[in-house]
Amino acid sequence: MPTPSALRAPVDVPLVLERCRETVRPALREALGRTHPWVAEMAAYSFGWCEVGGAPSAAPGGKGVRQALAVLGAEAVGAPGGAGVPAAVAVELTHVFSLLHDDIMDGDPARRGRPTVWKAYGTGPAVLAGDALFALAVETLAATEAGPSALRMLSAALGDLVRGQADDLLFADRPWTGPQRVRSAQYRTMAEHKTGALLGCAAALGALLGGGSPSAVAALDRAGRRLGLAFQIVDDVLGVWGDPQVTGKPVHNDLRERKKTFPVLAALDSPSPEARRLAAVLTSGGDPREAAVLVEAAGGRAAALDEARAHIAAAKTALADVSLQGAAGDELRALSAFLVARDL
Ligand code: IPE
Ligand code: IPE
Ligand code: MG
Ligand code: MG
Repeated sequence: MPTPSALRAPVDVPLVLERCRETVRPALREALGRTHPWVAEMAAYSFGWCEVGGAPSAAPGGKGVRQALAVLGAEAVGAPGGAGVPAAVAVELTHVFSLLHDDIMDGDPARRGRPTVWKAYGTGPAVLAGDALFALAVETLAATEAGPSALRMLSAALGDLVRGQADDLLFADRPWTGPQRVRSAQYRTMAEHKTGALLGCAAALGALLGGGSPSAVAALDRAGRRLGLAFQIVDDVLGVWGDPQVTGKPVHNDLRERKKTFPVLAALDSPSPEARRLAAVLTSGGDPREAAVLVEAAGGRAAALDEARAHIAAAKTALADVSLQGAAGDELRALSAFLVARDL
């Protein structure tokens, strides 16, 4: 008889992430071996495996949330984690591809504690490396038994990611106040597209390759999307109040770039004097540090974390719609909670 979850040991989420990264790493390395060595080096640099020029390195290479969702998605439908490895490779390569291009779009100089790929290698090479990684992701899924269905899922997620990135860029040109301002509902759609779709796809693809039922695959997609929305809201919070030494990314760039992040939108919606002052500071392109203080004073940070917790609760409800096998159900629930409490 399975042990009731209340009696099982608490899940050590960093250890689960590490186990999943180790399960996937050989296949990721093998995939990079199939592309041009120069673009493979840029990807390896991004994963923290090498320095510019190719010398080995052990730099932090990302949390590996999407690859973990794919491995756990396969385990949750009763397959060994290895069944989810091609899904994990495909979503992690797609993620890094999106980061390489995102850092160019956002003009960000640092990621994972190091210069971004476009800063280290140049914009053209970073665009090319992104393209190469997506080609490898497609090739990896095409070689699986679930080929066509898996590719449909990945291309749908990428289509959503592009929609979300388009809105993210367009929102930057919208005013902070007045009828043309970005509403929270529009933010949610944008964030679910740019981040939720790939997290949903990761868990669902893992379940698909693990032989899960269509209802399990759909439930994991729903859960991953809500998790991704929560994850993006926390990313917005860390972009203002995170420690760059821990996140590996700069602070206040979203404010400088006029990004319509959730904490700022929530603060502007509050009927407080701080919200009015914030609107004036933002509209005049004032000091981002002053804006950050006003966002917090107007309740934007707390509102963002409440909103993220609500999406995690919805993700857990979606997970409850299917019977998850083994430890993976507990691990997925623990991972969800960890992703809002994180500081990196
Ligand atoms: C950053 O994703 C981009 C977002 C979608 C918020 P992660 O926070 O998962 O980045 P890494 O892979 O751990 O560096
Ligand atoms: C995250 O974009 C979504 C994608 C990369 C597609 P952000 O611009 O919000 O994420 P960070 O903060 O640069 O990681
Ligand atoms: Mg960015
Ligand atoms: Mg961006």
